[in-house]
Amino acid sequence: MCGIVGYVGAREATEVVLHGLQRLEYRGYDSAGVAIYDPVIGLQLRRSVGKLSNLQQRLLNEPTHGHIGIGHTRWATHGGVTEINAHPHRDASGAIVVIQNGIVENYLALKGRLLELGYQFESQTDTEVIAKLLGHYYNELRDLGRAMHRTLQELRGGNAIVAFCIHEPDQLVAARLGNAGGIAIGIGNDERFIASDIPAILDYTRDLIFLEDRDIAVVRRDSVTIMRLDGTPVERPIHRIAWDPVAAAKGDYRHFMQKEIDEQPRALMDVLRGRIDQEHGRIELEDLRLNDHDLRRIRRIYATACGTAWHAALVAKFMIEHLARVRVEVDYASEFRYRNPILQSDSEHDTLVLAITQSGETVDTLAAMEEARAQGVPSVAIVNAIGSQAARLADGGPIYLHAGPEIGVASTKAFTSMLVAAYLFALRLAQAHGTLKPQQIREHIQALIELPGQAAQVIEQTKPLCIELAERYHRVSNALFLGRQINYPIALEGALKLKEISYIHAEGYPAGEMKHGPIALIDENMPVICIATHDHIYEKMISNIEQVRARHGQVIAIGHQGDELLAEKAHHVIGVPTTHPLLQPVLNVIPLQMFAYHVAVLRGCDVDQPRNLAKSVTVE
Ligand code: G6P
Repeated sequence: MCGIVGYVGAREATEVVLHGLQRLEYRGYDSAGVAIYDPVIGLQLRRSVGKLSNLQQRLLNEPTHGHIGIGHTRWATHGGVTEINAHPHRDASGAIVVIQNGIVENYLALKGRLLELGYQFESQTDTEVIAKLLGHYYNELRDLGRAMHRTLQELRGGNAIVAFCIHEPDQLVAARLGNAGGIAIGIGNDERFIASDIPAILDYTRDLIFLEDRDIAVVRRDSVTIMRLDGTPVERPIHRIAWDPVAAAKGDYRHFMQKEIDEQPRALMDVLRGRIDQEHGRIELEDLRLNDHDLRRIRRIYATACGTAWHAALVAKFMIEHLARVRVEVDYASEFRYRNPILQSDSEHDTLVLAITQSGETVDTLAAMEEARAQGVPSVAIVNAIGSQAARLADGGPIYLHAGPEIGVASTKAFTSMLVAAYLFALRLAQAHGTLKPQQIREHIQALIELPGQAAQVIEQTKPLCIELAERYHRVSNALFLGRQINYPIALEGALKLKEISYIHAEGYPAGEMKHGPIALIDENMPVICIATHDHIYEKMISNIEQVRARHGQVIAIGHQGDELLAEKAHHVIGVPTTHPLLQPVLNVIPLQMFAYHVAVLRGCDVDQPRNLAKSVTVE
């Protein structure tokens, strides 16, 4: 959601903060602002509505100088998109500035109390309540760290906050409450950085400290002092991040999404690296802190996630149930947490929660993991962002995707990497449960080894047709995506990709259900994208295609290269190579990503930052 950056050190704070905000642009936002302090010039606040370039333009006309500062990109939750509502916000004296990511759930009650005390508010935001409260306690305590401490005790919700006060011009105060988003503190040489997402500061340092829920940090150029909300001091480890910041740059590509689609063969290799032992027919998931004995006990898995990651969870269900014969239920994390799930069967500790998340910061997914913990059920996370909250919350260890930063809001390489990580996990579980013999595992490993090359083939060979189809269909208003079994989630994902970046209304449906409703929508203007690679219900899928044709729908099929029957039935066939049916979704989804991408480009949409969306959703 909102992006946060802070700096204290010898550099021009404005440059560091703006650079960081630029790196966070992908989060999606509607306004941005900075507050910079210099002892001679004083506090300088600049805010602008719209893209970061508006703020940059403003700063060209009204530059800011100083060696301490904070910056923010806002994704509105409380209060409309106006300059007044943009962060940073100030306390009543104007000496304290605050930025926040999250929601102050009890802000109306707090605001009411502050109004009674005579405070006036200029914005409609919940964040200004934090600023006023901080100022209120600062008057009494004359110490911003302690004022933050008092303030946090009154806030309800999930918040990541950074503030500074001109009377203490050598320090930033950062705090984290709940799971509204992370705070990383970068350790430099006589300088410190703060960011909500690590790509914001990776160009300056790879040594990061991550704040935990209820941590308050006082950050000076040469020190970081962390205290818990209950007052006890605490040390947090320094993590060294191995990502290459260059990997986060767009290079020659027009959009990050396009680059990330093309990066998939490499990402698929990276998720496999060091995890397959071809010779002995074994899967090694070293980061998984569960041994064979722990894994053998698991009889039920609750897979939980949001958005694209939820589609990965739906695919994971097929993989795990088929390979390891362990039952899997899949829930939207936002539903799971509120439905009072019955996780543990009697006294047997046979249940596991599997959380899947690219960012590791999606608030609903984190809450689902916490629900598991509250019920004494261990969780395993499949996660991309190193050191993220989900990675740290997972009892069974994070299975890292190692896909590198994913910047485009529409997930691509993280999705296919999630599918492969889920496959590895399913095989690892099967290994422990003895449902597959080493020879069978060897065959699956062989399929995995071939997969990155096949993904490269799909990208290279189907791109021209995807572009042609995008040219032909980019003016439609609706599209239907059909798949069955393990390819039904791929139909959902294809529809999600198209709608989120091109704003075409698209629905994914299990093909067998089409006759119970969506068939009424089909006419000669409706493109129907049918996933029809070979599996045990291929013939049924062909019948569904016939039903679409009979209603004059335009059939675009994803099928195996050289499938003549399909070529006869469909208007267009996008041919993909054959892999194991459980891995086929990885290859089938790639043309759908490319189709959505090119449609969005032709419609002139903002591919990497679609309207109203954010890369990681840290509010409910
Ligand atoms: C947002 C993003 C999606 C993503 C979802 C879950 O909606 O726009 O691309 O799939 O969040 O994110 P996560 O980081 O938990 O995978």
